[in-house]
Amino acid sequence: MLIRPRRLRKSPIVREMVAETRLSKDMFIYPHFVVSGNNIAHAIDAMPGINHFSVDTLVKDVEKSLKLGLNKILLFGVGEEKSEDASSSYSKKSIVVSAITELKKAFGSDVFIVTDVCTCAYTTHGHCGILHDDYVQNDATVEVLARMALAHAEAGSDMIAPSDMMDGRILGIRNKLDGNGFENTSIMSYSIKFASAYYGPFRQAADSAPNKGDRKAYQMDFRNPNETMRESFLDEQEGADILMVKPALAYLDIIHRLKENTNLPVACYNVSGEYSMVKAAAGNGWIDEQKVVMENMYAFSRAGANIIISYHAREILEKGWM
Ligand code: PBG
Ligand code: ZN
Repeated sequence: MLIRPRRLRKSPIVREMVAETRLSKDMFIYPHFVVSGNNIAHAIDAMPGINHFSVDTLVKDVEKSLKLGLNKILLFGVGEEKSEDASSSYSKKSIVVSAITELKKAFGSDVFIVTDVCTCAYTTHGHCGILHDDYVQNDATVEVLARMALAHAEAGSDMIAPSDMMDGRILGIRNKLDGNGFENTSIMSYSIKFASAYYGPFRQAADSAPNKGDRKAYQMDFRNPNETMRESFLDEQEGADILMVKPALAYLDIIHRLKENTNLPVACYNVSGEYSMVKAAAGNGWIDEQKVVMENMYAFSRAGANIIISYHAREILEKGWM
């Protein structure tokens, strides 16, 4: 036998040397849920280890992340006044706006703030847009999203991440930002976002579940890989800076295909349901949490993700799992 692949698996040193995939703390973005009030750090039932934070406790928590070298966060506002027109989403007094303001006051450019832009936590019906005749109105929704993005940019958000799946929203947001002097605020598009049951725990956390119907008239059908390429190319043409695939674990083929077909950085979102399944199994002693989490992270990277958005990020760095 001339060829023995096991030679390069013989010791930890040689295995490290030939490893084809490596992770870095710089790849991770850590999500946070922000609520109004003071001194709140309220555990989210369906997402063990993740909390609702008020702005003051959020600042302290982000400080902990920064000490670990985890310097990119994704913000979601929770518990705002809900209306038909989602007007609280673009308020200059929204909880996300005050979180951005306080974080920038405390950490300046040491923290990179990404803000989710979508209306579902701000509408009475819980849909990701303006609802008329039981249909989420595309162009009216893009208007609202652009205003929301601008409010975030004005407060100091570094990157806008629209998660709604309306057509043309990247261009609408880009034009709004540029028209107001925010041409350097970047956009990470949730380009390929599937209508997925893996968002369940998040909807509980964000109080953003639709009270009627589902999101299939705007989020993508998971049976359609070709369509994912059309969606992401559109976002690229409309000026997106980063393209995202969401969820991640059940869609490694899509991450890989996107990576092969774009020259933009590719992000993946390791969503709430994926996180909570691991936490539940680990909590029951059925799996080795560290090993499973790291196997998943390497899978994202191996598939082609340059950026990983994950609720596990903090624990990975805290416990030195990398
Ligand atoms: C809002 C939004 C959702 C997620 C991110 N932004 C939920 C949804 O579309 O229903 C899911 C994130 C997660 O599950 O961790 N549009
Ligand atoms: Zn939404």
